[in-house]
Amino acid sequence: MIALALTDDQYLELEKIGLGAFAPLDGFMAEEAFRSVVDTMRLPDGTPFPLPVVLDVDADVATRIRAGDSLDLRYQGRSVGRLLADSVFGCDKPEIARKVYGTDSPKHPGVAHFLSQGDRFVGGRVTLLERADFDFSPFELTPDQTKAVFRERGWGTVVGFQTRNVPHRAHEYLQRIALEIADGLFVQPLVGRKKPGDYTPQAILTGYRTLIERFYPSGRVLLGVLSTAMRYAGPREAVFHAIVRRNYGCTHFVVGRDHAGVGDFYGLYDAHALTRQFDGELGIEVLRLAGPFYSQFCQAIVTERTCPAHLIGTDDVIEVSGTRIRGILAEGATPDPRIIRPEVVDGLAGIPLFIGEPDA
Ligand code: ADX
Repeated sequence: MIALALTDDQYLELEKIGLGAFAPLDGFMAEEAFRSVVDTMRLPDGTPFPLPVVLDVDADVATRIRAGDSLDLRYQGRSVGRLLADSVFGCDKPEIARKVYGTDSPKHPGVAHFLSQGDRFVGGRVTLLERADFDFSPFELTPDQTKAVFRERGWGTVVGFQTRNVPHRAHEYLQRIALEIADGLFVQPLVGRKKPGDYTPQAILTGYRTLIERFYPSGRVLLGVLSTAMRYAGPREAVFHAIVRRNYGCTHFVVGRDHAGVGDFYGLYDAHALTRQFDGELGIEVLRLAGPFYSQFCQAIVTERTCPAHLIGTDDVIEVSGTRIRGILAEGATPDPRIIRPEVVDGLAGIPLFIGEPDA
């Protein structure tokens, strides 16, 4: 049997497929599905699916794989899964990147990763033999587990919340909207591969524990990580994130400002527009929410829909920018308590905050 040694990233993809987190996928995409997803954001049978999920292999291994082969997927010397090979294929990577990410610039972290992967992909159904065991694994719940919790708690409606940040007051505002309209809130921070300078899983979880334990009603919020790579694919990733949260049992999903965006590669509300195209097809309702900001006059976090029009766009407004908060924390300074809770910041003391720091 041909053995393939998986990277951390590939192992997490295998695990997510095996757990049903990427349903209806039951394996890595074969060429037909890959082309269909890239070109139409749908699987060949028409089901919405906006991002490729592929397994890259070295060129020399690729030449040895035949359709029908069973591949031994290994991680650190152990067999952790099987793949029943369907096809091996290649692609024009810059062209695919332009379609999926809207750019082939290597400055885009998702594109850079895609370009750095092998040039050949093997598709086929997978079986997961062993769950991943990373630092963050104890804080992860499977789709079966989250659905069981939702049932136990009697939550008929659950809002899923994607994040890769320590919570600030704009996140909190969106989450309180969710708590107003649904039975429960599932905060599911993404902790797979992220770019240097993003928060560590530990920082995000610690920030959320402070917020949930001290500032949210007990028993109405569930916290559990999602270990999968951040792709920074903006609007397409927003649709993907919604599909994944449906698979975890959520009925609603928040898409705010610049969801899964990076730099200025996407328009602030591109993800609203793209998710709208799939309304009624995803099996989950997307809550498209506008960007909250702090109004000094109102002395509150508000949005364009709740703030007097004459204040919008003036010096009255203090933007809640996750990027700016990260910059301030990285300098060791204290961010404005109007945009992030001091208790959340204080709770982070002594914790490695950012990926790529020497001690992180
Ligand atoms: S990410 O996955 O979208 O990159 P992030 O932590 O930045 O994660 O945001 C989590 C969710 O909150 C996303 O739906 C995002 O659109 C939304 N969001 C983040 N910051 C703001 C903001 N200032 N205004 C509105 N929505 C925001």
